[in-house]
Amino acid sequence: MKIDVVSIFPSYFDGLSLSLLGKARATGIVDLRIHDLRDWTGDRHRTVDDTPYGGGAGMVMKPEPWGLALDELASSSPSEAAGAPTIIFPSPAGEVFRQSTAREFAQREHLIIGCGRYEGIDERVFEYAATLGEVRLVSLGDYVLNGGEVAAMAMIEAVGRLIPGVVGNPASLVEESHEDGLLEYGSYTKPSVWRDRAVPDVLLSGNHGAIATWRREQQIERTRARRPDLLSD
Ligand code: ADE
Repeated sequence: MKIDVVSIFPSYFDGLSLSLLGKARATGIVDLRIHDLRDWTGDRHRTVDDTPYGGGAGMVMKPEPWGLALDELASSSPSEAAGAPTIIFPSPAGEVFRQSTAREFAQREHLIIGCGRYEGIDERVFEYAATLGEVRLVSLGDYVLNGGEVAAMAMIEAVGRLIPGVVGNPASLVEESHEDGLLEYGSYTKPSVWRDRAVPDVLLSGNHGAIATWRREQQIERTRARRPDLLSD
């Protein structure tokens, strides 16, 4: 998979060289490239923003650098067969990013992620991007960040770990929160008693059927307590 990220703060993404995703980049499973939007500006000050038409607080990202960036990156498909890219704009005004969204994006060959700052990107950029690929405005949740970078990093990590070969043991992907619509059960390791707190007996029983039943009950119980919205969906 190829992922192109466009941002005015490329160094935000340094952390993606670490850990499992860093290894996947080094071995070529994930071709992640971070681009500076200012490289597509033409003026001495490398200007990316301007005042909003109609007035209002803050600045809006100008369309011209975004147009040039998208033209170049959309034509840099990882393969002949890849087809049009999926162009993602992190935005608090977008659809909510879920595990199902991560699974969907993990099937794509080419993702372009455009990180907005300030009051957002000129609306025409989204319309234009739709002529180059599938456009998705995606929100990390119902709160406002200073820009798309942190949301982009979260999405890259959630998508990246679903790509075959990124997570060493694929079984560990199956038994996680949200994979089956429920929160994950609690985990325990040695010692079996720690500060007067014992590991639940069933986990020491060796009875795999009983353990599976107990874990399922735990999942339902904690989902009901912490995230009842997941059960009513
Ligand atoms: N940019 C600012 N806030 C955001 C959010 N909640 N999700 C995605 N991108 C954002």
